[in-house]
Amino acid sequence: MAIRIVREKGDPVLREHTATVKRFDETLARLVEDMFETMYHYNGVGLAAPQIAIPKSIIVLDAGDGERYALINPKIVLAEGHEVGVEGCLSVPGVYGEVERYSQIRVHAQDLKGELLEIEATEFLARVLQHELDHLQGVLFVDKVIRYLPEEELADE
Ligand code: NI
Repeated sequence: MAIRIVREKGDPVLREHTATVKRFDETLARLVEDMFETMYHYNGVGLAAPQIAIPKSIIVLDAGDGERYALINPKIVLAEGHEVGVEGCLSVPGVYGEVERYSQIRVHAQDLKGELLEIEATEFLARVLQHELDHLQGVLFVDKVIRYLPEEELADE
């Protein structure tokens, strides 16, 4: 396992559309382990493969609900409601802002063996999922921010 370098805003790899994963092999499993290790090292709650310069459709998440997710080729298949909440990103260090997201989503993805997964998510997990799914389309949260948090507000947290 290894901690990978996280690419930051301005790196063109963050703007690429990612490729569908077709091989569910040991190489994929090792990449996902590196993604988890990198995410935990930098205290992130999610990480998408383009953030470590791999333009493939892979995300990992641990939104603090006791589950860790590795999702291959994830897609939103159902979305309802809207809510505004604060986000940050390991690829945009020190910047936080409010983003509107769906409040409830259903995601279809594959696991490390290629088996289909279905996830129903609300609240924080739904937000993290949508943030990471955007990375797979070359979209960063700062593209969607409706209000940046000023530094004074950050200092209070
Ligand atoms: Ni991010």
